[in-house]
Amino acid sequence: AKPVRIAILGPGTVGSEVVRLLSEQGPDLAARVGAPLELAGVYVRDTSKDRGPHLPATVLTSDASALVAGADVVVELMGGIEPARTLILEAIAGGASVVTANKALLAAHGPELYEAADAANVDLYFEAAVAGAIPLVRPVRESLAGDHITRILGIVNGTTNYILDEMTRRGLSYDVALKQAQELGYAEADPTADVEGHDAAAKAAILASLAFHQRVALEDVYCEGISAITAEDVIAARETDQVIKLLAIAERTPEGVAVRVHPALVPSDHPLAGVHGAFNAVFIEAESAGGLMFYGQGAGGTPTASAVLGDLVSVARHRANGGKGPRESHYAVHDVLPIEAA
Ligand code: NDP
Ligand code: HSE
Repeated sequence: AKPVRIAILGPGTVGSEVVRLLSEQGPDLAARVGAPLELAGVYVRDTSKDRGPHLPATVLTSDASALVAGADVVVELMGGIEPARTLILEAIAGGASVVTANKALLAAHGPELYEAADAANVDLYFEAAVAGAIPLVRPVRESLAGDHITRILGIVNGTTNYILDEMTRRGLSYDVALKQAQELGYAEADPTADVEGHDAAAKAAILASLAFHQRVALEDVYCEGISAITAEDVIAARETDQVIKLLAIAERTPEGVAVRVHPALVPSDHPLAGVHGAFNAVFIEAESAGGLMFYGQGAGGTPTASAVLGDLVSVARHRANGGKGPRESHYAVHDVLPIEAA
């Protein structure tokens, strides 16, 4: 079969793990796809920097547009809005399918990207954009497509869960815990997005859009982070047998859709209190399925690379064997509920 040519944009914490796993598991993945997977190249800003054995100079390029133009699948792992947005649109316009982990971009420009992908009849997959390794986008977008989701509630940011957990269980200061989360590769390039709740709000907007079949924008999400939480708050919570968790909640109410992110006191014996480190956990309530619980590593290079590779296998299968994932138009605005003010 004809090889599927893959371009990777941004070999950082996640991208470097995707490249490593691709090179180590190439034959297995090719068997799952039904065609060889060929690394067309990896886009970097500085091609002279040593990037380890899996990223030899021969695969690196600083010409992103040329790389994207020659690819069947573009995997965007740079983060940020630009140049990620423009390169994804270039990829789609050139007929490539796209895999991205970029929740900030999807929450800000999702409709533009989904519409472009629908118009070009290519896939746009983004499992890694919500809750790291945990399969959540596919269950909400596909497995529960025959049900009626009423509520999504959980912990969707690893960095803030790590910080709160280290403050609670080890008495670490906020600053030290944040620094550790950065060193472990959990935090965003600018960790303000994590600690102010913006990252969780972006994920909540993405999940709410898929769950409630309408466009929920970042501005629709009430958002409060953890930067004001002190050691005294954590101790006071513990003294009353509670822990502080940053929760994301999206629900259908009689008045419409309400989406919010804020710290909350959780009883110590509640399952969410047992979510430690950078793990995430999400409960979904659906009319027919009832309650579902999703749990796993919510951040980090290798766990997130698992979700990226799962998407890569899916879109590469479509390239090799035909077929296509869900179109955004299947999800958009047929069931519009008012969105409560954030
Ligand atoms: P990193 O900051 O570790 O890596 C980003 C990579 O992209 C680096 O190689 C960087 O190059 C490159 N890059 C950034 N901006 C540009 C640019 N303008 N031009 C060229 N190259 C650029 O980020 P992560 O790997 O942590 O995250 C990548 C994406 O995955 C983000 O969207 C993030 O939100 C998402 N994500 C991250 C998770 C995690 O746990 N880390 C989990 C889930 C999603 P350079 O080395 O030169 O700076
Ligand atoms: N910074 C994010 C987090 C990465 O800590 O959850 C995973 O999306």
